[in-house]
Amino acid sequence: MNILLTGGAGFIGSHTLIELYKAGHTAFVIDNLYNSDREALRRAAQIIGIDEVPFMKADIRDRKALNEVFDHHHFDACIHFAGLKAVGESVAKPLEYYENNMNGTFVLLDVMRKHGCKNIIFSSSATVYGDPAVIPITEDCPKGHCTNPYGQTKSMLEQVMIDLQKADGEWNVVLLRYFNPIGAHPSGRIGENPNGIPNNLMPYITQVAIGRRERLNVFGNDYPTPDGTGVRDYIHVVDLATAHVAALQAIIRHQGLAIYNIGTGHGYSVLDVVNTFMRVNKVDIPYVIMPRRAGDIATCYCDPQKAARELGWTAQYGLEEMCRDSWNWQRQNPNGYQS
Ligand code: NAD
Ligand code: WQD
Repeated sequence: MNILLTGGAGFIGSHTLIELYKAGHTAFVIDNLYNSDREALRRAAQIIGIDEVPFMKADIRDRKALNEVFDHHHFDACIHFAGLKAVGESVAKPLEYYENNMNGTFVLLDVMRKHGCKNIIFSSSATVYGDPAVIPITEDCPKGHCTNPYGQTKSMLEQVMIDLQKADGEWNVVLLRYFNPIGAHPSGRIGENPNGIPNNLMPYITQVAIGRRERLNVFGNDYPTPDGTGVRDYIHVVDLATAHVAALQAIIRHQGLAIYNIGTGHGYSVLDVVNTFMRVNKVDIPYVIMPRRAGDIATCYCDPQKAARELGWTAQYGLEEMCRDSWNWQRQNPNGYQS
């Protein structure tokens, strides 16, 4: 299949690009490079073994640019990664987040529809469950209250696509609710490259390991979890990438609407991650216990059985490989793609 990847230069998009080609598909990337680097696409092309990745630098809110891409290419489906994703920033800049994520998706869906491409896989998030009513979280769990505008955009966009599919049965909509993606391509050539101070746990740990930050702040050790620190379902980004390839089956089968949790089903605490990282990589991670971070929940991990049953997809990598590959990427690229 030929797949349009919006936001395909980013962390998850660039890894998915590689797995798509590996599975015999081709792809075209559209990205405004707001939170990514063209170098990621150069390196992805090297890993795939092609001269260059078909790419247009454009904003998905730019209807003219999107029309141009669709006028010149046939796409069997779109995997829609493009969006702003920093939770804290979304609280400070709600309008920018709502505008980019909502409006960008509206323009994309409209242009897709006009060009007869009605197959979409959407990057949703475990954040739509809010503070989950049941653990492990199944897809049947009710959606919860999102504490930030970023999460609201994911929840609302899911609803937009559910309604669109309901109104027009020609659409196939696959909502993938990612849990906590970490790790990097095993080559260490591509990986997560956050701007400024990382918000997420793993990039913060790797920046401590490389000496860019003095110590990790552990946000709270008084949660009702085995060691008091927050528990999450970390998933290797390469596993997450292969989940997108598997999700194409739901489109091929004309499943209409399909919703899947994409995680490993295992919950690890902050200290589990820190200790595994230190043991596997033989580096020290100094840390200090700080107060809880606003908006955090105690425990979040999924039941990934539905994706296993219906898509034949299960995560292959464990926490050790996630820690190994995150460090391998950071060690080879101390300043990310600017190295
Ligand atoms: P990322 O920031 O690395 O990638 C997103 C890409 O979208 C970037 O390359 C950015 O430049 C591009 N982009 C943003 N707005 C755009 C626009 N208007 N037009 C064109 N390009 C635009 O983030 P990621 O971690 O790869 O996440 C990909 C998707 O998965 C996002 O939608 C994110 O919300 C979602 N998601 C991420 C996580 C996570 O923890 N990383 C978890 C759940 C869901
Ligand atoms: C994990 C754990 C923190 C940083 C976020 C978004 C979610 C999704 C994934 C996009 C928590 C603790 C963290 C640090 C710490 N993204 N922590 N020190 O919050 O589970 O999920 O990213 O959709 O929507 O909310 O991930 O990596 O920020 O935190 O102690 O410096 O690590 O408190 O328990 P989170 P995270």
